[in-house]
Amino acid sequence: MPGARKHVTLIPNEWSVGKLVTMTTTHAAEAPPPDAPDGLQEHFDATIARDQRIEPRDWMPEGYRKTLIRQIAQHAHSEIIGMQPEGEWITRAPSLRRKAILFAKVQDEAGHGLYLYSAAETLGADRDDLTRRLIEGRQKYSSIFNYPTLSFADVGVIGWFVDGAAICNQVPLCRSSYGPYARAMVRICKEESFHQRQGYELLMTMMRGTDAQREMVQDAVDRWWWPSLMMFGPPDDASPNSARSMAWKIKRHSNDELRRRFVDMTVPQAEKLGVTLPDPQLRWNEESGHHDFGTPDWDELMRVIKGDGPCNDRRMERRRTAHEEGAWVREAATAHAAKQAARAEKGAAA
Ligand SMILES: [Fe+2]
Ligand SMILES: [Fe+2]
Repeated sequence: MPGARKHVTLIPNEWSVGKLVTMTTTHAAEAPPPDAPDGLQEHFDATIARDQRIEPRDWMPEGYRKTLIRQIAQHAHSEIIGMQPEGEWITRAPSLRRKAILFAKVQDEAGHGLYLYSAAETLGADRDDLTRRLIEGRQKYSSIFNYPTLSFADVGVIGWFVDGAAICNQVPLCRSSYGPYARAMVRICKEESFHQRQGYELLMTMMRGTDAQREMVQDAVDRWWWPSLMMFGPPDDASPNSARSMAWKIKRHSNDELRRRFVDMTVPQAEKLGVTLPDPQLRWNEESGHHDFGTPDWDELMRVIKGDGPCNDRRMERRRTAHEEGAWVREAATAHAAKQAARAEKGAAA
């Protein structure tokens, strides 16, 4: 491609794990319970102010605990439901190599879900209860996974856009104030960056192929671009919980900041790839040093979040069936653990 840059940075260096610029925020104090021993709230506030971690053994305000459980559970559910759109292509991958890569990627997402459920358990949440809430529609997962995967190019575009957006969202979470969540994020982000690279490499290969393959890539880009921008959530002025999460340093950047970061990161990658992002308003703004871009359809986002996206029913049905069909595995594992415990007790008594 004439004029194209030799290298496209998939993940900008300054956003690499552990190298983020610290954002200063003021901590909104929440009153400790009346029976809390003196100094607990002060200790919590001071820990946050020093940018140190809150650990499971530490006292924390109930609002902080609940916010984290909700966020971590939603994140865990997204990883697990997110296995479905791409998982549907494992049996139809065009080569053994692509099948092995896709298999590994989908398995990674299952692993991410499990780390995150474990992180939620350190806050006193019960994994069964979280799964029940998901299945009963009382807890959400990312809106992006309610869109269909129509061709194998979608696998590449999901890796590039969806894992790319996940990286933008999650790298700052490596410095989240809650220790187990932050530590889970470090490992997850390393794997997400592999996911993004494999997606981009797949698309590069397709773009070097036939006209039909290039059309498949452009079609997938056209369908996934706007839903990917919606992954960052509603605009800041319509995101009431964000300010509190930022004060608690659970969240480090606003939805709009992260969305802009994603656009800035993705535009040169699209140029290098040779695809057009479907936004006539997209252009570089010399003055702001960022790209200007159009507004996602927020009504569509609300509809999808409320359950009326193209694949919500299918995703939930599949998750429910998998849970029911897996009941015997959970029962067997529980029986095995009980047997081992009884044996260990017997051995200790002998
Ligand atoms: Fe993931
Ligand atoms: Fe991923």
